Amino acid sequence: MNTLIKGLILFFLIALNTGSLKAASSANKQTQKPKVKIIPRPIEIKEHEGFFRITPRTQVLIPEKDKAVLHVAHYFTALIHRAFGISLKTTSSSSSLLQNIILLSLIEKGPFDNDEAYRLSVEKNRIKIEARKACGLFYGIQTLRQLLPASVESERGRAPEEALDIPCLTIKDFPRYRWRGMMLDVSRHFFSKEFVKKFIDYLAMHKLNTFHWHLTDDQGWRIEIKKYPRLTQIGAWRADMEKYHWNARNQQKQNGDAVYGGFYTQEEIREIVSYASDRFITIVPEIEMPGHTSAALAAYPEYSCTGGPFTVLSGGYWPITDIFCAGKDETFAFLEDILTEVMALFPGRYIHIGGDEATKTEWEKCPLCQARIKKECLRDEQELQSYFIRRIERFIASQGKRLIGWDEILEGGLAPQATVMSWRGTSGGIEAARQGHDVIMSPTSHCYFDYYQGERGLEPPAIGGYLPLNRVYAYEPTPPILNTEEAGHILGVQANLWTEYIPTEQHAEYMIFPRIAALSEVAWSPKEEGGWKNFCFRLVKQFDRYREAGIRYARSLYSVSFDTVYVPEKKEMTVNMKTECPNARIRYSLDGKSPHPSSPAYESPVTLDKTTIVRAGIFKEGELQGPETRTTINIHKAINKPVTLTYPYAEKYSAGGAFALTDCLRGTMDHHDGRWQGFESEDLEAVVDLGSDLTIEKISVGFLQNISAWIFLPLEVTFEVSHDGHHFKPAGQLSNTISPRTHRTLIKDFSVSLKEIRGRFIRIRAVNRRTCPEWHIAPGEEAWLFADEIMVEGSE
Ligand code: ACM
Ligand code: ZN
Repeated sequence: MNTLIKGLILFFLIALNTGSLKAASSANKQTQKPKVKIIPRPIEIKEHEGFFRITPRTQVLIPEKDKAVLHVAHYFTALIHRAFGISLKTTSSSSSLLQNIILLSLIEKGPFDNDEAYRLSVEKNRIKIEARKACGLFYGIQTLRQLLPASVESERGRAPEEALDIPCLTIKDFPRYRWRGMMLDVSRHFFSKEFVKKFIDYLAMHKLNTFHWHLTDDQGWRIEIKKYPRLTQIGAWRADMEKYHWNARNQQKQNGDAVYGGFYTQEEIREIVSYASDRFITIVPEIEMPGHTSAALAAYPEYSCTGGPFTVLSGGYWPITDIFCAGKDETFAFLEDILTEVMALFPGRYIHIGGDEATKTEWEKCPLCQARIKKECLRDEQELQSYFIRRIERFIASQGKRLIGWDEILEGGLAPQATVMSWRGTSGGIEAARQGHDVIMSPTSHCYFDYYQGERGLEPPAIGGYLPLNRVYAYEPTPPILNTEEAGHILGVQANLWTEYIPTEQHAEYMIFPRIAALSEVAWSPKEEGGWKNFCFRLVKQFDRYREAGIRYARSLYSVSFDTVYVPEKKEMTVNMKTECPNARIRYSLDGKSPHPSSPAYESPVTLDKTTIVRAGIFKEGELQGPETRTTINIHKAINKPVTLTYPYAEKYSAGGAFALTDCLRGTMDHHDGRWQGFESEDLEAVVDLGSDLTIEKISVGFLQNISAWIFLPLEVTFEVSHDGHHFKPAGQLSNTISPRTHRTLIKDFSVSLKEIRGRFIRIRAVNRRTCPEWHIAPGEEAWLFADEIMVEGSE
């Protein structure tokens, strides 16, 4: 055939086929989006046709009689048994078996130059996982687990309702960082051994490999030390003040009832260490020093500067000045004895010695501490802390272990081989890496899972802060400012679960999930363009797994937040609705009723010219996906009217200044949102000029309470009305009836309804309690009053 005819035929073929060509290319695109949804995202996935089916006759084949590999095999068969009641056989004789097998194989040259790497290939007749080390096989199993139906996470123990089909594919994978950690604080609240094991399972499920166990703090000593039994007899127990807000607790009295607490015996610790080791998780125990030691000093006050007596703290206390005395050699002997027992229990390389937030007030006064400063030619108490840590490091190093501490250990000079855990931002980590020290990144901004993960009003009480899922996901642990060599010191990343505000296991799970999934991807997977969207796509399946596992996970991702802008010229409020969830369908209502699947879909900002309750939620396939959010937009008569204050607001909480209280913008539960006007130890006394006489029907003022930020509702609010701005008539008086001691952060409007009162001026007096009460974390400190809006309803 000549080329001209060939060309013509080709032309016609193309013309005829344009439609299907298009279809083919979009189908292609579809296949680029993997059918399998794995978290953390593997380096490379190639999907093939067909599937492997697990049946009761499937066998797990381990050619090497390696103990660790056998553990991995048993881990997998136990999982299958727990979920589906199927007992898969494990065998090491390969001769006759080539079909229906899951092969776990150690190979000398792994898929990548990394002990944790693995290659997983699923073919119709067999599955093969290969790795250099057993831990790589374990991660291959974790991936395989996610290729099975989500019901593999259940504990049903009965035959599966669907076939156990695993799609044919090949995956090559290895972690980005070698330290992939999570910390659990068991001091502020005690968590059972069973929960600690669950926590370890959660890490394993997400390919994390380090469990930082915060075992000691001011509110409880949780590890049995044989040589010093009082550490747990006394130090593990405190007065039960659980019914009060963390920052509103009386401290335990000497010889008072100390009934809240618990500890782990050495036997239990060994059991947990072994449980973790079977899951390729290293436990890093933390023994706090020189600060965060009230529980230890309650038991052994002789190792403080003053000699005590002390009690185990029942909740928040500020500032904590009682710390270990750095002047006494006995303190070091005591700590070395403790560390000796600790090191015998934990086979891992690292011992965390805390080092954070040690207030040096007592060191400044203590003759022994001062003598030490002199004798060692130290400049100040910072250098005394450095001396303390170096001395402990020498001991730890002499036992073949490595010291790790929070970034305060940089102050006064780092101990020679110390590893730094950077929590107060990343600058400590950057500095340590530049000094040639290893670093774990764990900044509050991206790694503190005790922070809120959604709109505060919709979340259980948390310590403060805001760390939504997408911020965890966006974290980049290696600061770009570091050169290659320095960057090599960033061992990895860790999230921390401090538990002041987390009294129960369900609550802990809620704070961990799903942020642990985002953390795992930060720690394991390379950064990817468009990663967040893709992560959310996979997360839906992860939620199915969590549900099957009975995990109480947060759905805060699926919440709507409002951003309101008042347009004074039009007397209108514009309401923007936002969510961190990509491609979410927001539906809203303006009639005060819950939004439903056929409520209007949010497309663009909604404009309101009268008082309206806006309610919104995210819907998928006719179902509300997360919490419903609501806000009341008050279009009222005082908007943009001038306010005269008798006492000034604090500059740092001006909320924009003069018109803050009549700008139509309501504050949120976050007192830093720029909408709250704050008065430190002063009353709020305000006169609003409405411009002309109105018949006033209702006056309201919004106030915030957040006792952790020293912010209290007013003791009393009085309302007055006047025609001329000089002679005021009483219009109502309200006392606060909400106990600040038991209540979480809240917003309360103090309102009075009036009958037939006309006036142009409104005077409001809100009484500040002036000082924090005696049960507060900071008794006697100046108290704050925060107001966001004065709202007036009425007619001409
Ligand atoms: C810390 O959060 N104090 C390490
Ligand atoms: Zn001292």
